[in-house]
Amino acid sequence: MTIYKVGYFVGSLADASINRLLAKALIQLAPSELALSEIPIRDLPLYSYDYDADFPPVARAFKQAIAEVDAVLFVTPEYNRSIPGALKNAIDWGSRPWGQNSFARKPSAMIGTSPGMIGTAVGQQHLKSILSFCNSPQMNAIEAYIQFTPGLITDDGDVTVDSTAEFLRTYMTEFHGFITRVYMALPRQGT
Ligand SMILES: Cc1cc2nc3c(=O)[nH]c(=O)nc-3n(C[C@H](O)[C@H](O)[C@H](O)COP(=O)(O)O)c2cc1C
Repeated sequence: MTIYKVGYFVGSLADASINRLLAKALIQLAPSELALSEIPIRDLPLYSYDYDADFPPVARAFKQAIAEVDAVLFVTPEYNRSIPGALKNAIDWGSRPWGQNSFARKPSAMIGTSPGMIGTAVGQQHLKSILSFCNSPQMNAIEAYIQFTPGLITDDGDVTVDSTAEFLRTYMTEFHGFITRVYMALPRQGT
């Protein structure tokens, strides 16, 4: 059985983040072929190309963490109909210096939750555009816009609504299938 390493980003920095709860749930519901670990974005300074000649250790570690995984998963809220600035900042770090774009050929998927009925759909459209420019093969279907209602996911990451749990399980199974297909079509560089 091939195990794929998946690095996930939580787009929210909030202590009570509902998207962090969603990430916990996804870890529990993922098929055993996916090994998920968080790639933290919190400690990255604001990106400037002044850093390109000599990235600080935190940014080097960030890029190294992306290099070490087979795929990335974005679990993010929608802020003002886009992605949070902290997440955009992290993607900017990952994409640079020019020619060392960490997202190139790296399979990705996105998911998010919000109390609103469209559950991060507009923010995800922006994220798709960003990742297209970063040359990341993206899972286009199934899409996952999760409306959060109080108690939907417990602090331990248990999903309390069966149909939602089943959907999230299917989502992660689909992501596994997508990663497998990408690496069949685009063998990893250096392997
Ligand atoms: C600055 C800001 C902008 C927001 N904009 C949106 C929005 O565009 N769409 C939406 O559905 N919710 C929006 N919300 C509400 C968030 O969905 C809600 O705060 C949610 O808890 C954020 O996810 P998190 O808890 O994982 O940070 C916004 C919240 C903040 C703080």
